[in-house]
Amino acid sequence: MRITTDYLVIGSGLAGLSFALKVAETGTVTIISKTKLDETNTSYAQGGIAAVLNTSKSDSFDKHIEDTLIAGAGICDRKAVEKVIEYAPHAITDLISWGTQFDKEDENKSAFDLHREGGHSMHRILHHQDNTGFEVQRALCEKVRGHKNITIYENFFAVDLITQHHSGMLVKRHLTEIKCFGAYALDLNTHKVVTILAKATMLATGGAGQLFSTTTNPVVATGDGFAMVYRAKGIVDNMEFVQFHPTALYNPSESPNFLITEAMRGFGAILRDKEGVAFMTKYDERGNLAPRDIVARAIDNEMKKSGEDHVYLDCTHLDSEALKEHFPHIYKKCLSIGIDITKEMIPVTPAAHYFCGGVKVDLEGRTSIKYLYAAGETTCTGLHGGNRLASNSLLEAIAYADFASKAAMKEIKENDWQKDIPDWNDEGTSHTEEMVLITQSLKEVKQIMSNYVGIVRSQVRLKRAFNRLWTIYSETEELYQQSKLSRKLCELRNLVQVGYLVIKAARARKESVGAHYMADEKK
Ligand code: FAD
Ligand code: SIN
Repeated sequence: MRITTDYLVIGSGLAGLSFALKVAETGTVTIISKTKLDETNTSYAQGGIAAVLNTSKSDSFDKHIEDTLIAGAGICDRKAVEKVIEYAPHAITDLISWGTQFDKEDENKSAFDLHREGGHSMHRILHHQDNTGFEVQRALCEKVRGHKNITIYENFFAVDLITQHHSGMLVKRHLTEIKCFGAYALDLNTHKVVTILAKATMLATGGAGQLFSTTTNPVVATGDGFAMVYRAKGIVDNMEFVQFHPTALYNPSESPNFLITEAMRGFGAILRDKEGVAFMTKYDERGNLAPRDIVARAIDNEMKKSGEDHVYLDCTHLDSEALKEHFPHIYKKCLSIGIDITKEMIPVTPAAHYFCGGVKVDLEGRTSIKYLYAAGETTCTGLHGGNRLASNSLLEAIAYADFASKAAMKEIKENDWQKDIPDWNDEGTSHTEEMVLITQSLKEVKQIMSNYVGIVRSQVRLKRAFNRLWTIYSETEELYQQSKLSRKLCELRNLVQVGYLVIKAARARKESVGAHYMADEKK
């Protein structure tokens, strides 16, 4: 089967859907999503979206910019930071116009209720209760489903980007002007690979939290976009900066880990050890509201000292009615496992949460591959540097979707569908009989990454991780060459490649910066 479309959008989170809505005014749009349209990291976002609105008297763009640069540990791209933060009021206007509801101070007031999170000097997080992402995703899904120029394919798994390589040309990283002509996608309903030819392709495939055993990310977050671009010989950057969220709910029977939003600490919750002693001021003068990398490392250190698998987040001193009103979903979730957060402390543990690096894009959302644009967590825009400031991710996703839509709408006129692209050829392959080869390798990859490439790293751990991963890489490539495609096999292959990129980047950066912490750093 072949599909031709003006714009192909791979991924249906905030980045993909907002891009689709913008470009759909000028051409046909095909959105593919590897499971259901609303199964995205976006749907799980809790805290909200950081924005300084023009109406704010006490806050300013400059303060938000400063907070972002400080959290980013000195390696943000200032131009990207300024561009995104100054775009924030437009992002909020768009989200509201698409039907997103944000909480107000009270029913009769027009001012938004603003939360505060780690690393922010001001209250500036717009939110919808404690499930902002669900609300954003709901509104956008309704909007794209009703659009006459948008066609949606759920359960369509993008396998590889189509470039000149597929019409027989030798393509070299950094040397060739590579062009993207769409993607091959596995239709998970028919198990056939579809050739999707597009004049412009938007990559919005999100992050790769599933590379680690403990993560807040849903199962779709397997880094497919990073791996596809790397295979297509495009540029990825800053892959060593994997952000761990300090406070995921410690509930060993549950995967992914349920998040306990940082907004709770902004609301006054305190991190304590098992004796009930508050420990954050020992690590940073900003205490419980220090940037995420610092808090996650402090918790990791407390856990290593005590030998426990978690610490506690204490809200018991806070007004219980206000707590339930602001965090109704967290209250219900904890109650469902026997914890009344108004009376008992919440056991929490750090969990892999966000990839600060990714596919390198310019200030207009262009990747190093022509006619391939990218937005959202799959990118490295320069906004986050070494460590993302809380609630800047949804903002970045919608901002870069807008910047990229403008570039794509202009540049699409230069490109046409490449008719000489062959269909996928899987002659000589067969269905994998032994799924255990895939599931076991996946477990091993997660263990390797969690044990050796987590919050605290060292050269010797990274070397060991690299060697262990190499064996799995060779086995997986062999299996891939012999097998008919399946989602599980493609995801394993992508995760192994992303693991390799993280380790390679981590080994190259000898000093500790942001979320990349080397225990054996040479001063
Ligand atoms: P996603 O929303 O992850 O969407 C990716 C899409 O790509 C999905 O549709 C997926 O199915 C699809 N996809 C992936 N691979 C393929 C493939 N091979 N083929 C086809 N489709 C594919 N950020 C904030 O700013 N504020 C918050 O409060 C916040 N809270 C968070 C809470 C949690 C629990 C988590 C996990 C993240 C949170 N984040 C938050 C981060 C933020 O949610 C994400 O970074 C952001 O939503 C990413 O949006 P995206 O559109 O780039 O990707
Ligand atoms: C949270 O609500 O703590 C998550 C916010 C984010 O990841 O930006």
